[in-house]
Amino acid sequence: MKRVIAIDGPAGAGKSTVAKIAAEKLGYTYIDTGAMYRGVAWKTLREEGDTSDAAILRAVRDIDVRLACTESGTRVTVDGTDVTSEIRTPEVTHIVSRVAALAPVREKMVELQRVMARDGAVVMDGRDIGTNVLPDADVKIFLTASVEERARRRYEEMKEKGYAVDFDELKGEIASRDKQDSERAISPLRRADDAVLLDTTALSIDDVVARILELCE
Ligand code: CDP
Ligand code: CDP
Repeated sequence: MKRVIAIDGPAGAGKSTVAKIAAEKLGYTYIDTGAMYRGVAWKTLREEGDTSDAAILRAVRDIDVRLACTESGTRVTVDGTDVTSEIRTPEVTHIVSRVAALAPVREKMVELQRVMARDGAVVMDGRDIGTNVLPDADVKIFLTASVEERARRRYEEMKEKGYAVDFDELKGEIASRDKQDSERAISPLRRADDAVLLDTTALSIDDVVARILELCE
């Protein structure tokens, strides 16, 4: 059976890590919708002189964002350029929630996401997958964890990648992004009524994956 699995939650809850592993185990395609919004933010920074709403709207107008599954993970291209690493920089992270709050940006990304999930056998993660993109998903999961723990995870990750980061600054950035994502007018971050809530604060990656696979059975 080709099911559709929706995973939502705030930054650092573990969505992409567990979604990727669960997809592999199920033989499904993993779709990282956050990477698409990051792609729009990347293009705005790269091609426009500023990051005003008008600049973001110009950047998104004829953007071609694609996700490709490869052995080394998801590759993201924007207008033919591979931006897989560049969309994870602090500069992109800093503006992405403002980019993702604009209606024309969301309309375009959601349309693409629905096409990608059309044939099923997908695990899609984001903020509004269970509530808006795929309201009929077979399994819906809302992952969360304390902001302290989510910041700790991101801190370790950034340190490993060689970025000099300050823990309190990172925690502040995560909290501010959560607030923007939860309070925006269009498709805010929230648990769908029929989504299973999983607090991962004290859970290992394996624990979370096992729970998700259990829910898929
Ligand atoms: O990986 P991380 O949790 O830091 O973020 P992400 O999943 O890459 O998403 C980056 C940003 O894109 C989020 O903070 C949201 O503002 C936006 N986003 C969204 O609005 N809707 C989605 N379905 C996915 C991401
Ligand atoms: O996609 P999202 O922003 O929700 O989180 P992520 O990028 O998948 O996870 C952030 C970090 O937390 C990764 O480095 C994971 O290895 C780690 N993690 C963890 O330590 N324990 C979990 N239960 C889940 C994720």
